[in-house]
Amino acid sequence: MERQSETLEFQTEVRQLLHLMIHSLYSNPEIFLRELVSNASDACDKLRFEALGDAALYEGDSELRIEIAVDKDARTLTLRDNGVGMSRQDVVDNLGTIARSGTRHFLDSLSGDQARDTQLIGQFGVGFYSAFIVADKVDVFTRRAGLSAEHGVHWSSEGTGAYTLENVERPARGTEVVLHMKEGQDEFLDGWRLRNIVHRYSEHITFPIMMPKDDGDELERVNQATALWARPRNELKDEDYTGFYKQAFHDWDDPLAWTHNRVEGRTEYTNLLYIPGRAPFDLWDRDAKQGVKLYVRRVFIMDDAERLLPRYLRFVRGVVDAADLPLNVSREILQSSEVLNQIRNGLTKRVLNLLEEQARDKPEAYARLWTLFGRVLKEGLTEDVTHRDPLARLMRFASTHEDSRGQDVSLAEYVARMPEGQDAIYVLTAESDAAARRSPHLEGFRARGAEVLLLSDAIDEWVLAHLTEFDGKPIRNITREDVRPEDENVEPDAEQADVLKRIETALEGKVKEVRASTRLVDSPACVVIGAHDLPQHLRRLYKEAGQPLPETLPILEVNLGHALVRRMQAETDEARMKDWSGVLLGMAMLAEGAQLEDGAAFVQQLNHLMTGI
Ligand SMILES: Nc1ncnc2c1ncn2[C@@H]1O[C@H](COP(=O)(O)OP(=O)(O)OP(=O)(O)O)[C@@H](O)[C@H]1O
Ligand SMILES: [Mg+2]
Repeated sequence: MERQSETLEFQTEVRQLLHLMIHSLYSNPEIFLRELVSNASDACDKLRFEALGDAALYEGDSELRIEIAVDKDARTLTLRDNGVGMSRQDVVDNLGTIARSGTRHFLDSLSGDQARDTQLIGQFGVGFYSAFIVADKVDVFTRRAGLSAEHGVHWSSEGTGAYTLENVERPARGTEVVLHMKEGQDEFLDGWRLRNIVHRYSEHITFPIMMPKDDGDELERVNQATALWARPRNELKDEDYTGFYKQAFHDWDDPLAWTHNRVEGRTEYTNLLYIPGRAPFDLWDRDAKQGVKLYVRRVFIMDDAERLLPRYLRFVRGVVDAADLPLNVSREILQSSEVLNQIRNGLTKRVLNLLEEQARDKPEAYARLWTLFGRVLKEGLTEDVTHRDPLARLMRFASTHEDSRGQDVSLAEYVARMPEGQDAIYVLTAESDAAARRSPHLEGFRARGAEVLLLSDAIDEWVLAHLTEFDGKPIRNITREDVRPEDENVEPDAEQADVLKRIETALEGKVKEVRASTRLVDSPACVVIGAHDLPQHLRRLYKEAGQPLPETLPILEVNLGHALVRRMQAETDEARMKDWSGVLLGMAMLAEGAQLEDGAAFVQQLNHLMTGI
């Protein structure tokens, strides 16, 4: 047989491209094994497909497989597949030309349904050259299925600019890629290291990936190829889903819920998303990389594909397998695109639907879910206008309602039991649940049987800034000056107007105004803030964080019916009136969780009043 050896040049710019590939395209050298295994899987897939029309192509061996073998003495790593193989022309076209993807061409030649039935991975035509990241010479021995042994081809290159090509006798069909490892790349001659890389990237490839057992001769399958998400839902039981979750996400708790879907149409993808049974340790670390695992045709691409779900769903764990997602050629970066937005939107809807189902059908499980992730979900209301309605329905708040235990009241529930004539949803923000429940602001509302939702998560002020109404009912914060029980006013009589004036004078520069209150029953006074002012407990947080604050003074509301105020009405000594007023304001500020401007002065005034000295 005439060996017909010839030396061919890569086109000039190919040399630079090769250099780029080898030195900078991939951030992690281990990726080479993923690329070569994917090529071998594609070759098996192509043969499986072609053999549907011509079983003879199997040449009596239909057990499609991929083998990885190491020769430590020769310092070579070999990947062997008994897939479709390549003819001489295929080799010239596919290995001699960078960025030409024979697989992409093959895929484009199939009809929609045929293409859907394949698992073909290759698309950019560059993956093969990642071999030169770790090898300083690559030999490829291949023979196309259906061609006779003498049509074997030997391709060889050092990845610099040229390659050699010769015909060889090759009884076995398929392809063998032999990497001659570079100095310093011995880690890739280690069986366990290679197995780990297979587990990380190629675990779910359909075809068996075989490696020698304990470096002996006997081969064993390395990849489990479970790819649970690729299996039809009706084949799977709950324990399949929980088992996969624990194994894939290294969690020993069962997940709370999951959703498994295959989306078809313009954008096709499969997703399997889980709500964990406990909060991930880095839930509050906004810089921590979180998110779902991205696969393309069962090949692992990246962890933490943050762009597939909004940050407020960062607790979701799962897998998305999307063939159409625009990745850059190294498959390391998800590129912005309409497809990405569609998938992100679709996934967000899926998760919110799942949460709504839980809330409707499994209130207890949802209560636990809310305890774990409620505060994260609230971020969604401040950053995701598109899904504001479903998010608002998912919210749960503490409430003054006798049946409420913790954050368990939904806005829908509140609206459903609003008494006739009440046209707003009343909420109260405070620095803690205890402070909220003791807030003097509640007295007037409680006395009139008006339910108030108690918001004490740090994010709640921001939530209220974005969530201003629900079901057509405005959401009104009762700590604000313009929100009063039933909007009624109190007309102080002359004496009462006088004491209000005297208090205002005594507190000049400390309050914006002193007015009679309709919201107090037991407390002598409370402070309210303007519609756009920061509540006291937040002002304290800002101050502690050294943040600049707009100078706003609170409004002091006085309970004219309170014994203390009546006592002040009788006070004739202006200095003592100053003490009374200072203590009145101080108590109201403390009830708000505010820090007193001058705690010492407050104590002094208290002493004066208590000792009369
Ligand atoms: N083991 C193999 N068996 C048969 N053909 C192969 C094999 N490896 C590579 N090829 C051919 O060489 C081409 C180039 O491979 P390469 O990995 O560079 O590109 P690709 O797989 O098409 O795309 P991608 O860059 O996305 O991996 C393939 O499209 C395929 O036609
Ligand atoms: Mg490839």
